[in-house]
Amino acid sequence: MTRPAAVTVRVPAKVNVQLAVGPARPDGFHDLANVFLAVGLYDEVTAAPADSLRITCAGPDADKVPLDRTNLAARAAELLAARYGLAPDVHLHIAKDIPVAGGMAGGSADGAAALVACDALWGTGASRAELLDICAELGSDVPFSLVGGAALGTGRGEKLSSLDVGGTFHWVFAAADGGLSTPAVYREFDRLTPGAVAPEADEALLAALRAGDPFALAGALANDLQPAAVSLRPSLTDTLAAGTAAGALASLVSGSGPTTAFLAEGEESARRIAEALTASGTCRSARVAASPAPGATVLAASPAPGSPADLGWAPTP
Ligand code: C5P
Repeated sequence: MTRPAAVTVRVPAKVNVQLAVGPARPDGFHDLANVFLAVGLYDEVTAAPADSLRITCAGPDADKVPLDRTNLAARAAELLAARYGLAPDVHLHIAKDIPVAGGMAGGSADGAAALVACDALWGTGASRAELLDICAELGSDVPFSLVGGAALGTGRGEKLSSLDVGGTFHWVFAAADGGLSTPAVYREFDRLTPGAVAPEADEALLAALRAGDPFALAGALANDLQPAAVSLRPSLTDTLAAGTAAGALASLVSGSGPTTAFLAEGEESARRIAEALTASGTCRSARVAASPAPGATVLAASPAPGSPADLGWAPTP
């Protein structure tokens, strides 16, 4: 079979509409009831053959993205290659639009996208279960980046069950200056929450998602990491208040922050809230996005030079 010359995969950001956090486990992670919702802000990862593993990145935050093997995209290529006895010789180019270190799973998204792109480029044909397994090895949020839509994550967030969403939700996301370290936010959570209890999904929130009802969802949004993120970055209080004053149904920190998320009544209202937040001077920038969004998706596989598809004809099926 002819291999493609390059494969591009599009992958969404996420917001946690419920993030219930339990006490620290012996392995240092926290048990979660983590309701993920994929939102239509995307990174794109293109994989192409190369002499050795190489990462490049373009986009407004590109200078903040590590280009070494700590990048989850590089680790994804290495893990897949190791499983199939291949050399991870691939050029991964990340077109980055998701805020970096912002609590929207941008790094995790790139890991999931690189995995899907390398699988298609190398023709490894890994099963969905194998891909999910590698994603869980890469990080707690990575499996959700692969599947998208909406899902409840339990364990450290990697055990997923998909959820029904009955409509489109409109959001505004406000990026802050600088990132927040996820381990630091969890440590601050431990300090602030000595009596954390076993986390449970909120039935009212799941019903609001099923109904596609933004008013009901607004009343149920909850993020146990928010006090910790605000404690480390007190200026987030001003951003949250500015969004509420601009008409958001609810304002919350996205995951471990510092990106803040604002649920709007509809598309028009989201646009107005984004304008007001931008003008408020309490954030770096504000963008609208709708949810749910699909998980990691192959956008394009460009044909290898000289292959039948490249020459403009396709083999008979
Ligand atoms: O799984 P991931 O590598 O994304 O986690 C990054 C860090 O976030 C962990 O090292 C841990 O400090 C914290 N974390 C946690 N409990 C979770 C998920 C992440 O304590 N369920």
